[in-house]
Amino acid sequence: MIVLAWNGIRSWLRSRRPVHTLAPALKVRVRRIVDETVDIKSFELVSADGSALPAWSAGAHIDMRLDDETVRPYSLCGAPGARDAYHIAVKNEPDSRGGSRAMHQRVRVGDTLVIGGPRNHFALVDGARHHVLIAAGIGITPLFAMVQELQARGASYELHYFTRSIAETAFHQVLSAPPYAGGVSFHHAVGGRLRELLRRLLWQHPPGHHLYMCGPRRFTAVIDDVIAGIWPSEAIHVEYFGADPAAEAAPNRAFEVKLERSKRTIAVAADDSIADALCAHGIDVVTSCREGVCGTCLTGVIAGTPDHRDAFLSDKERKAGDKIMICVSRAKSAQLVLDI
Ligand code: FES
Repeated sequence: MIVLAWNGIRSWLRSRRPVHTLAPALKVRVRRIVDETVDIKSFELVSADGSALPAWSAGAHIDMRLDDETVRPYSLCGAPGARDAYHIAVKNEPDSRGGSRAMHQRVRVGDTLVIGGPRNHFALVDGARHHVLIAAGIGITPLFAMVQELQARGASYELHYFTRSIAETAFHQVLSAPPYAGGVSFHHAVGGRLRELLRRLLWQHPPGHHLYMCGPRRFTAVIDDVIAGIWPSEAIHVEYFGADPAAEAAPNRAFEVKLERSKRTIAVAADDSIADALCAHGIDVVTSCREGVCGTCLTGVIAGTPDHRDAFLSDKERKAGDKIMICVSRAKSAQLVLDI
């Protein structure tokens, strides 16, 4: 069993933050850990009680609960449909806030871990004529599952996988061999050639083609730029790492939320989130990542203008303004009326 101890700052944070209700959980046991690259480990997780794991499809993620304050979403990257084991791959990020470090340094074979999910907000589009998958670094994880699913379906796809070198390329051996090799292109250390390469790949949007991308924000931002005005939003599917730093850096101001169903009005301070403010007033909200990534806290907006700070909603959903991720997003209007 692992005990994930946390430092004084975390203890202090825990003592002052409202306790949220976490999404339903499942206990799993770590059956195998593999070094995929020098800084990426994969973890094979089986149900702690030996039963079949919940069904899932390519693009799904689980929420790994490292402690009461630390929940991290990890994409499932095994063979889709497999219910005897889940597979995730985690890169050790020196600048992370502790999730990847804990997974690398403290988790051992035989440990029991608690996970939420799986949930899928990054699913393949049924009936697409062709799927273009673009991954950078550890962004390969959901796309690796997609490639396996598309291959099993006999669907048309191409995967472009960007890394610094073969040594830093997780799953290189599998993806460079049959049956995947024909559909996979590796791009190593492209540096300043990235934009030109992406332009050559994505210069047009053939009907029925769908684009899926996963990687660091500066990487997906280049793709966004290259495809602007060419690929329609409904054909673009993105999974980001972490919350949007530009949105996080935006100034905060206080506002209030009116809860339509419970007929209450709650003030949200400039340094508070909607979810924390509701919890502090005894209103139960279910959260998981608390970073605007996982989709657990999705809440309906009845009136007012959301200030979206999440990495979950699509541009189209943001423009519609009828949903908000209450763990990170705020209000542009003085009041938001929520469907709670
Ligand atoms: Fe994950 Fe809000 S709790 S998006």
